[in-house]
Amino acid sequence: MKATAHILLAFAAGVLWFSGCDSAPGRPATGAESLPPEEILDFNVLFATNCSGCHGSDGHGGAAVALSDPVYLAIVDEDTLRKVVTYGIPGTSMAAFGQSAGGMLTAKQIDVLVTQIRARWSKLGILDGANPPSYAARFPGDAARGEAVYKTFCQSCHGPDGRGGPKGSSITGNSFLALLTDQELRTMTIVGRPDRNAPDWRNDLPGRPMSDQEITDVVAWLASHRVSTPGQPYPASGNSQP
Ligand code: HEC
Ligand code: HEC
Repeated sequence: MKATAHILLAFAAGVLWFSGCDSAPGRPATGAESLPPEEILDFNVLFATNCSGCHGSDGHGGAAVALSDPVYLAIVDEDTLRKVVTYGIPGTSMAAFGQSAGGMLTAKQIDVLVTQIRARWSKLGILDGANPPSYAARFPGDAARGEAVYKTFCQSCHGPDGRGGPKGSSITGNSFLALLTDQELRTMTIVGRPDRNAPDWRNDLPGRPMSDQEITDVVAWLASHRVSTPGQPYPASGNSQP
């Protein structure tokens, strides 16, 4: 009799022991185990973990260009998006995400990002009849002509010499220019920042859009404010902005 009671007790303890294990603290519920990072193919997760810190949680409202802007997506092509995300933009905070370039994302994950950015946020026909400028400059710009373009199209908001005004921030300061490429200045000039009320190339001046040439020239003028060692005071350079 005594022996049977012991066996029963031991059995009951065993059942408790095993069932207790299932809810051990720290153990994920069945089905909630996280995927190895390389197997994540959910766009929302990929975008939130890799892109939204700079480009905004819904692809806008961040410090860097709004990727959910349909005007931007109508101007940039898929190959460019794929190349930028894979290889990054040297000299800027836009890192290389492709494993082939030392980043963390597989080609398949980059494909999900690029195709979903386009599928979710572009709007078919949004620039129909608008004759948009080309994404990349097709010839070198002329900074002297660009200065006149600046005065006509930009100065009312960004102030004299691009130092900032009541309706737009400084866009010729050393630290601003040091962080961006000429392509990014061109992108911003073409598409604006709809999330921050910056007009695109059609709406800087009521009445007429900028020409491709004017865009190329104004970017050359902005870029001519770059100094080779940003952050260093160079009183003789004539550019004493922060
Ligand atoms: C109607 C006012 C307005 C006009 C005209 C305008 N902008 Fe802007 N621009 C803005 C606003 C607002 C922003 C976003 C907030 C900020 O940076 O001030 C902006 C942002 C920018 C940026 C990005 C700045 C950043 O911090 O990321 C660039 C570059 C720029 N504009 C260039 C131009 C150029 C070049 C022209 C002329 C071709 C121009 N803008 C005309 C209002 C204007
Ligand atoms: C640490 C900040 C940061 C993160 C994170 C980041 N970007 Fe960027 N991105 C930038 C900056 C800054 C630029 C502009 C670089 C330049 O000056 O050309 C940029 C540029 C771009 C451009 C090109 C814009 C143009 O003018 O055509 C694309 C496309 C882009 N990023 C996509 C992404 C995607 C997709 C992710 C996530 C996988 C991502 N970025 C993550 C900062 C970031």
